[in-house]
Amino acid sequence: MLKIENMRVSRNGKEILKNVELNFEKGKIYSILGSNGAGKSTLARTLIGFNNIENGTIIFDSVDITKSGITERAKLGMTIALQEPARFEGITVKEYITLGGKYNSDDIMEFFQITGLDYNKYIDRLVDDTLSGGERKRIELIAVLMMNPKLAIFDEPDSGIDAMSIPNIVGMLNYVKRKGNTAVVITHNEDIAAIVDYAYLICDKTIKKKGKPLEISSYYKKRCNTCDYVAMEGSV
Ligand SMILES: Nc1ncnc2c1ncn2[C@@H]1O[C@H](COP(=O)(O)OP(=O)(O)OP(=O)(O)O)[C@@H](O)[C@H]1O
Ligand SMILES: [Mg+2]
Repeated sequence: MLKIENMRVSRNGKEILKNVELNFEKGKIYSILGSNGAGKSTLARTLIGFNNIENGTIIFDSVDITKSGITERAKLGMTIALQEPARFEGITVKEYITLGGKYNSDDIMEFFQITGLDYNKYIDRLVDDTLSGGERKRIELIAVLMMNPKLAIFDEPDSGIDAMSIPNIVGMLNYVKRKGNTAVVITHNEDIAAIVDYAYLICDKTIKKKGKPLEISSYYKKRCNTCDYVAMEGSV
């Protein structure tokens, strides 16, 4: 459903992704592993249209979206839950999560359950700075699930002080898969790696390895955890 060939991206004259090759199929869960600064968030943002592509092609559901912007890709069904959710103030949680236009009341309760938020307590709260970082992140994830995207990308839902618990994340990814959609999760967590269908390892702005999730995550643990290659090469 998503195929990327030989993709290169530069910003302000600096190469930020090179020679990226990816292939995502419908109804599967993928993980992307990589050290700090390897290019994971850059890749995720590029997939949904934040960065112009200098070289290569992106095909999504047989449509060439190489030159399509964020809105066009969102309309086609591509969504991301950012590592740092954007601020969006002054509306209620209910309004916020239904901005995507859809309100599927059957599933909304399940989304609150999956993300570990109490529906009755939060649905009429204002989305402002009285919400904690963790609550905001969960609301962002519910908003993504509400859109029922064909491709949902989750950038490190398990990292930082606002992290969701691993069983909740696993529930979220399995929900996307159960609906016949594709999930991509950026994570280092082995329990999550154990339930994904296929894994990619990113290093130094490109995909260096791909294969069985547990093999890729054990390679990462052995070879990448202690590697300072990216930090040295990536420093500007
Ligand atoms: N627009 C940009 N202009 C210049 N450099 C950029 C830009 N976007 C990303 N980079 C650089 O690309 C590299 C990868 O950043 P990225 O945020 O993708 O890393 P990451 O793998 O998500 O790391 P982390 O695990 O810390 O989230 C960094 O060195 C970053 O400074
Ligand atoms: Mg990142």
